[in-house]
Amino acid sequence: MNAIDLLTAEDKKVIDHWLTKFPEDRKQSAVLAALTRVQETNGGWLTAELMDAVADYLQIPKINVYEVATFYSLFYLEPVGKYKIEVCTNISCMLCDSDAIVERLQKRLGIKLGETTPDGKVTIKEVECIAACTAAPAIIVNGIYHEHLTPEKVDKVLDNLR
Ligand code: FES
Repeated sequence: MNAIDLLTAEDKKVIDHWLTKFPEDRKQSAVLAALTRVQETNGGWLTAELMDAVADYLQIPKINVYEVATFYSLFYLEPVGKYKIEVCTNISCMLCDSDAIVERLQKRLGIKLGETTPDGKVTIKEVECIAACTAAPAIIVNGIYHEHLTPEKVDKVLDNLR
């Protein structure tokens, strides 16, 4: 089977849309958007085969896709939970006690950073600065920012995950 066959018609449509924004000989520029789309379609994570499919579709070397997928924390290379919680522990958040946020998340969920709850509901991941320094400490839950966090606010966030 051709790797490109793993992409859905809608995936290709979205990637084609992004390709129109760049010069013909700069298809590499669409990698971020392509991987984002394909990850969404695949339940929130990327397989090697899907990365290969993106490379083939964009007609670029596979390594150019792997290096993007492994560099950015928004990409996941293993199965994830329904909810992906990205916890910033970089300098501003650390100074505002992100340790307490991490501790509460790990305690409530019974997992460590980088793990998924056994029921497949929640994945927690440590990330670098998420550009919310003025509202530290902060986390992102499925793309939604939660800022000025305290352990008590973390409880509320978790209680609202259905
Ligand atoms: S250091 Fe956490 S948002 Fe910038």
